[in-house]
Amino acid sequence: MHKTLPEDIFTEPEDFSPDTLASLGPLRRLAGVWESAHGTDVNPKADGPEQRKFIERVRMDPIDPQTNGPQLLYGLRYHINITTPDEDATFHDQVGYWLWEPATGVIMQTIAIPRGQVVLAGGKASADDKSIFVEARRGDVRFGISSSPFLDEAFRTDYYRIDITFNEDGSWTYLTRTDLAIRGKEPAFNHHDTNTLKRVEAPKPNPLLTILKGRGEA
Ligand code: HEM
Repeated sequence: MHKTLPEDIFTEPEDFSPDTLASLGPLRRLAGVWESAHGTDVNPKADGPEQRKFIERVRMDPIDPQTNGPQLLYGLRYHINITTPDEDATFHDQVGYWLWEPATGVIMQTIAIPRGQVVLAGGKASADDKSIFVEARRGDVRFGISSSPFLDEAFRTDYYRIDITFNEDGSWTYLTRTDLAIRGKEPAFNHHDTNTLKRVEAPKPNPLLTILKGRGEA
């Protein structure tokens, strides 16, 4: 059971900041548009692990505050697109949300990738943390991993984790770990990726804040 589950799960909070960028806690350092041509991927191939360099573009846009009954979440909607210097087709594509609950310090990342796979990964953080991580496990009904029948049989994903370090110069570095049991083989293959993203565009304020500012109400 959720430790802080209140008696009243329906009444929404009324008095909260409409300014997502100012309320994102540790996630504020991810807002904006980011690029790097120096990513490294290790992925499974028939004759063993393949290592590839990649070019990554990420955008993370502040969304309006979200309420689940009394729960208040601030977040970013993101899109990651990865290409390689030697191929025209997209190498990896991913969309989702990063979410932060100020009242509990819970952070969450949702992942959808066009292989037929979704993930909800969770963790805890403080507003000024220099590094954060979230994780998810296959079979966990809360922070879990859901794969298509083909993927679950051929490339079963047992575990996912992302570690993010916020660097002094404003860039951030991630390391992802995705454990793939290929045709059920143990130990699982460690499909991993790393990159350091540099900001190329500042984030835009969330839509509600722009509307309120236009009316002179914020
Ligand atoms: C920077 C991020 C990532 C890159 C560049 C990347 C790239 C790749 C590549 C090149 C393959 C091999 C594709 C093939 O041979 O058909 C692969 C396989 C796979 N990846 Fe990723 N990946 C990334 C992140 C992730 C994440 C976050 C997940 C899941 C949470 C994931 C799940 C899988 C699975 C299940 C496979 C096996 C399916 C297959 O080989 O066809 N990947 N990835």
